[in-house]
Amino acid sequence: MSVAAFLCLAALAISAEAGIHGVPAPDEKIFNVLDYGAKMDIVKFDNGPNFNKAWQAACHSNAKARVVIPKGVFYTTQVNFQGPCTTKGPIIVHLQGTVKADADSSSFPNAQWIAIEFVDNMIFLGTGGLLDGQGASSWLAAAGQCDTNPDCTMPAMNVYVHQSSNVLIKNIHSINPKGYNFQVEDSSNVKLLRLRLSSPKDSPNTDGIHITNSTFVRIARSSISSGSDCVSFGEGSTNVTVDRITCSSGSGISVGVLGMVDYYGNPKKELEVKNIIVKNVTLSDTEYGLTLKTLMTSTPNQARGIHFKDIVMNNVKKPILIDQEIKLVETFAQATNASHVVISDVHFTNIAGTAASEAGVTLNCSQKSHCAAEFSNISLKSSVTGKWVACVAGTKNLADVFHAAVGNENCS
Ligand SMILES: *[C@@H]1O[C@H](CO)[C@@H](O)[C@H](O)[C@H]1NC(C)=O
Ligand SMILES: *[C@@H]1O[C@H](CO)[C@@H](O)[C@H](O)[C@H]1NC(C)=O
Ligand SMILES: *[C@@H]1O[C@H](CO)[C@@H](O)[C@H](O)[C@H]1NC(C)=O
Ligand SMILES: *[C@@H]1O[C@H](CO)[C@@H](O)[C@H](O)[C@H]1NC(C)=O
Ligand SMILES: *[C@@H]1O[C@H](CO)[C@@H](O)[C@H](O)[C@H]1NC(C)=O
Ligand SMILES: *[C@@H]1O[C@H](CO)[C@@H](O)[C@H](O)[C@H]1NC(C)=O
Repeated sequence: MSVAAFLCLAALAISAEAGIHGVPAPDEKIFNVLDYGAKMDIVKFDNGPNFNKAWQAACHSNAKARVVIPKGVFYTTQVNFQGPCTTKGPIIVHLQGTVKADADSSSFPNAQWIAIEFVDNMIFLGTGGLLDGQGASSWLAAAGQCDTNPDCTMPAMNVYVHQSSNVLIKNIHSINPKGYNFQVEDSSNVKLLRLRLSSPKDSPNTDGIHITNSTFVRIARSSISSGSDCVSFGEGSTNVTVDRITCSSGSGISVGVLGMVDYYGNPKKELEVKNIIVKNVTLSDTEYGLTLKTLMTSTPNQARGIHFKDIVMNNVKKPILIDQEIKLVETFAQATNASHVVISDVHFTNIAGTAASEAGVTLNCSQKSHCAAEFSNISLKSSVTGKWVACVAGTKNLADVFHAAVGNENCS
């Protein structure tokens, strides 16, 4: 094939992609927020109600509909992209400009900024836009607050997908959330692709993406830096795939914390976590790499069918950790002193790189339940001393070891 023909084909491929999402189809109706009273560049002007009006018009249009947030800077409090909609085909929200959350945390009593709720079939697409949660002042206020006060209100997350299905969120750049950057809860068929999420390493509770009670979630081709978990799988996360992402700063990829209790320390009814695949991930300078975490409570639960594969660690403090000995903070009543969460069918495969400590693989299993994992082809060296900290050439199965370090031998 000639170079010209190749370039021509490449251009066709790009425009086909743009035709689907980036450039409106001829029969699409455009709902530009400026036509619903939105105003650019005014810090004190809350565009939330105007964004909501544009969405509602699109949502009830019975047509192919696209809400456009054009180039410019818009300030808002909570935005509700709320269904159900009667749109023909997916309702598209097209972010081209910069949207900034009100800097004052008290403007978000529901702890949500961009809320996608009760929607079936939606595309949230960015082409050069930005979501800025302006979290700096709430990080100071929030630091440690929710560790000791179970009644505290978590600060607002940037994007909250709740009770929705068939949602594609693509190419969104989202920074400085007050709380989590993204959360997916009570939803199914949610794809998060090509996201760029960031918050500083010292911002508390700013998980990149947190999933709870959701199934068929795919996260791919994204870069995430955060002050807390990069991606975390809370209760009820099932059939989730994480593929080709990078995590820098924060505390890595985590199942849990499971075994939660209510305000009085009584066991909660928790949904199990199962069928999680995390592959082709690079973690750099994070506190942990891959973890399963459970509290020392009598809340029963299970985490099973968890696969971590093709993972690169760069200077990660604790690359692999199963910790079932997480203690409740003082103010919660102590329900028991060992976790009742069962961990099984967990696989760590093809994991290489460096650890920023002497701990390659750390297992702190519960004495009250069962905990089993399989380790294959693991090679981790200390970035400090250059010595091996974990090395498994074949496959090693471990079940119910209480405290152990795995393959902590010199294998060069
Ligand atoms: C989990 O999500 C489903 C779907 O939205 C919902 O029907 C169900 O009530 C949720 N379960 C819990 C325990 O929240
Ligand atoms: C969920 O994932 C498991 C394990 O990967 C797979 O066997 C199962 O078919 C999936 N469920 C559905 C409904 O696709
Ligand atoms: C991992 O992802 C990179 C791109 O980020 C890709 O080039 C490579 O083929 C992937 N490897 C596997 C094993 O999927
Ligand atoms: C906690 O552990 C202590 C011993 O370490 C034991 O005597 C006590 O019964 C345990 N409590 C519960 C609720 O399991
Ligand atoms: C072991 O993992 C490394 C990457 O960490 C990979 O390059 C190599 O092919 C794996 N070996 C086997 C036998 O799968
Ligand atoms: C795991 O157990 C060891 C040994 O008791 C302990 O030193 C460590 O603090 C525990 N937790 C973690 C996260 O390693």
